[in-house]
Parts: sequence; structure tokens; C-alpha cells
Amino acid sequence: MSEQHTSSTITPLFSAETIGNRIREIGKEISDDYAGATPQNPLHLIVVLKGAFIFAADLVRTITVPCTVDFIHASSYGSQKHSSGNVAIRHNLQVERWNILLVEDIIDTGLTMQQITAELTALKPVSLKICSLLDKPEARKHPVEIAYTGFIVPDTFIVGYGVDYNERYRELPSIGVLNS
Ligand code: IMP
Ligand code: MG
Repeated sequence: MSEQHTSSTITPLFSAETIGNRIREIGKEISDDYAGATPQNPLHLIVVLKGAFIFAADLVRTITVPCTVDFIHASSYGSQKHSSGNVAIRHNLQVERWNILLVEDIIDTGLTMQQITAELTALKPVSLKICSLLDKPEARKHPVEIAYTGFIVPDTFIVGYGVDYNERYRELPSIGVLNS
């Protein structure tokens, strides 16, 4: 992938094939860890929109234990490349007695995940873990414990495979760095 979109170029990081292979590994790990899940007491995936929608769609098809899928909407960026420091979270889930796996696209400062986990923990789930396709540890300001990570990325601006810049580039099948 080295595409010219207006004046920006994208430096490839992970191909569609590499992403697919890594997701199958994570799906196996999750299925092993939640082997006790049953149709009556399934694993509940909560997908953070919008960025994680493609990752979640591929991930859920590699999970072999009973699970459900719900969505939560979070936005922190607006049209900027840097976190606004303000996270708007929207959901109406009743998660009491759930084993939750939060599915996120990328963890940057950690603010979004910290706020979502605080909100959901207050609703008393049985357990809550985080699965993030991408992790940018160099950018962390708020500590987050990530149970399953797809790939570590440098502190640059990433796009593709669901991840956007100003609502662009989500449709790209691979992941890369957006050069401005
Ligand atoms: P945080 O709250 O700073 O951890 O930011 C988390 C959210 O910001 C992620 O869920 C993404 O939606 C978005 N984000 C963070 N880094 C990037 C990036 O490099 N490209 C696109 N979106 C990003
Ligand atoms: Mg996100």
C-alpha cells in the first residue's frame, strides 16, 4: 500500500495478510482463555466504534467459544491528529454478571480506555479485559492494562483497516503511517 490521497502518502506497516494471521492467533488465545464460556454465560465483546469495526468483524469470526457483540461509541479526536483530552462515550448496556472483552482499534494516550473501563467497571461486570489491535506505548499518559495486543506501533499517525484520519482511510485493507 503506498497510496497518494490528496497530498498525503501512506508508508505501509502491516499487510492484510499479516493482520489476518495475527488476528487468528489472538482469536485462538481468547478462545483458550474463555474456554468456560457457555451459551447461557457467553463472552461479551464490546466493540469501540468507529475505529474497531473492521478488526472486530474479523476477530469475532476467529473466536470459537459462545460470544455476543455489542457496541459503544467513543470519540476523542474531532478532526485533529491529537487527542482532545475529552472523551465522549455513548452506550446503554447493562453489563452486570458479564465477562467483558473490550475491542479497540488503537490505544494512544490511554484516556479513552481508562474512561470506558471506569464507566463499565461501575456497572459491576464479572470481569473486564481489553483487546486492542494496535498499541502506541510511547504515547501513553494514562496507564492501561491490555490483555491482547495485535501490534505495537511507533508514536506516529496510523490509518487503515478501520482506523481513520478525519473519517478518511478506514476502507484500506492494510495499516500504515500517514505522512503529512
Ligand atoms: P487515546 O484516548 O489517546 O488512547 O486515543 C484513543 C483513540 O484515538 C483511539 O481509539 C483512536 O480512535 C484514536 N487514535 C489514536 N491514535 C490514532 C492514530 O494514530 N490514528 C488514528 N486514530 C488514532
Ligand atoms: Mg478508537
